[in-house]
Amino acid sequence: MSEQAGEMLEALWLYADTARHRVNDSCRSLEAWQLIFCSVSLTLAAVWTWDIVFDPRESLSNRLRHFFFRMLRRVPYVRRQVEKEIRKLEMTMEENFRKETRDMLYVQQLPAHGWSQEHILSEINKYKELAQVKWREGKCSGTVYSGEEVLTNLMTKVYGEFAWANPLHPEVFPDIRKMEAEVVRMACCMFNGDQNTCGTMTSGGTESIVLACKAYRDLALERGISHPQMVVPLTVHCAFDKAADYLRMKITHVPIDETTMKVNVAAMKRAITKNTCMLVGSAPHFPHGIIDPIEDIAKLGLRYNIPVHVDSCLGGFLLPFMRKAGYPLDPFDFGVEGVTSISADTHKYGFAPKGSSVILYRNKDYRKFQYFVQPDWPGGIYASPSFSGSRPGAIIAACWATLVYMGEEGYVESTRKIITTTRHILARLQEVKGIYVLGEPKVSVIGIGSHDFNIYRLSDALSAKGWNLNPLQFPSSIHLCVTLIHTKDGVADGFISDLEECVAEIMKDPKAKCGGQASDLE
Ligand SMILES: *Cc1c(COP(=O)(O)O)cnc(C)c1O
Ligand SMILES: *[C@@H]1O[C@H](CO)[C@@H](O)[C@H](O)[C@H]1NC(C)=O
Repeated sequence: MSEQAGEMLEALWLYADTARHRVNDSCRSLEAWQLIFCSVSLTLAAVWTWDIVFDPRESLSNRLRHFFFRMLRRVPYVRRQVEKEIRKLEMTMEENFRKETRDMLYVQQLPAHGWSQEHILSEINKYKELAQVKWREGKCSGTVYSGEEVLTNLMTKVYGEFAWANPLHPEVFPDIRKMEAEVVRMACCMFNGDQNTCGTMTSGGTESIVLACKAYRDLALERGISHPQMVVPLTVHCAFDKAADYLRMKITHVPIDETTMKVNVAAMKRAITKNTCMLVGSAPHFPHGIIDPIEDIAKLGLRYNIPVHVDSCLGGFLLPFMRKAGYPLDPFDFGVEGVTSISADTHKYGFAPKGSSVILYRNKDYRKFQYFVQPDWPGGIYASPSFSGSRPGAIIAACWATLVYMGEEGYVESTRKIITTTRHILARLQEVKGIYVLGEPKVSVIGIGSHDFNIYRLSDALSAKGWNLNPLQFPSSIHLCVTLIHTKDGVADGFISDLEECVAEIMKDPKAKCGGQASDLE
């Protein structure tokens, strides 16, 4: 040991000894119980502070912000203002709804005597007349993805055959059990799964997503992570926030690249902690229809041994057919090592009736964490794969019928039509002065923004012409989600010319004050 080190050690020892004497002296007057009491209280206080500062469920800054706003809302003046605004909003909403139902009477009680079928059907026609947005003419963004009449008839016929079926009782309805298995299998094949790939049908994209989050949360709990955290792109569907809320998981949103609108993978890597239980990428995401770099996210997953979910709810029945339709894409499915689950909505571009979707896993080791089993229920051993108990067998049957009716050829054809139409609209929009397209959309959604005027003025102007587009925020923009209906003759060109007209009108005075939705969202 060098002399210097020796001296330093000695100095340290001296300090420690002085400290010891100081503490001993200052405690001289205390009794034993006081010493014990102080030690215990100090320890508890330290643990408590640690828990508050380092709560793994939500960051301190977020909690402080929430606390601040909660306190702010308690200030009488602020509270009155907030309540006034809320009342105003409620009144406008109520007024809008009343305008829509044109003061028709609401049925508020069971009719004492059942209505005749003729009466019911004539009433239903009155209800149908309420609809103002002409989705059949393609005036909607997304919402109705096919609307084709032959398919509608097939669906309703099949629904009728199975109207009473419930797969909660597979022994009573083996037909539905087989159809569900076949829908899942067909989807596994579409996404390049192998014989281990498996899944379940659910009631929609949200349920598929929340179930995947539940599976990964429970897998993480088993791995000894007590506060599982999901790491998702900022643009991910809100269903993940819902899952985090329902399942009491922490959710960390990763920023996106502001030019490409894809998630910043380096930032995603930095967001990973020892608590991370899943990574997510969208193919594509809802706001601007951009596909995240799935291969890079999957690499992160492999490197840190974290499951990777691909949300293909929107694009699930377009992306797998893009290559055959003449629009090849980067790999995004089970063919990419590291991707452990995929959600895909049969009720969007799969054209099946609403209330159907699939959640797929690379193998059963993931899926088993999704299931619920209660062996001790007095009602019998209860097992169920998803959130619902009883499930609509008829929807499963109608979904099955839609898939086999379309076949691969049918989906390749619908994909080709939809993508061709989207690219056509895209090319024309890029020439319109005053607006810009967000990122480089490869699939069916086009996000539109403006550097020159409040973009919500454009959606108001288009609404006046009967169009119904989706308003987005951060950045302020709107989007059109192209469906099969938009591929019909004249629909896309009608949209383009209406939009060109609206933009030209707005550009006459781009900074004008605006009312309606535009001012609400400004
Ligand atoms: C529509 C959608 C969902 C959720 O689907 P629901 O069927 O509405 O629950 C999830 N992710 C994306 C990208 C979507 O577009
Ligand atoms: C600590 O204090 C006690 C009296 O309270 C005394 O008897 C004891 O010698 C002290 N010890 C040291 C190391 O000073």
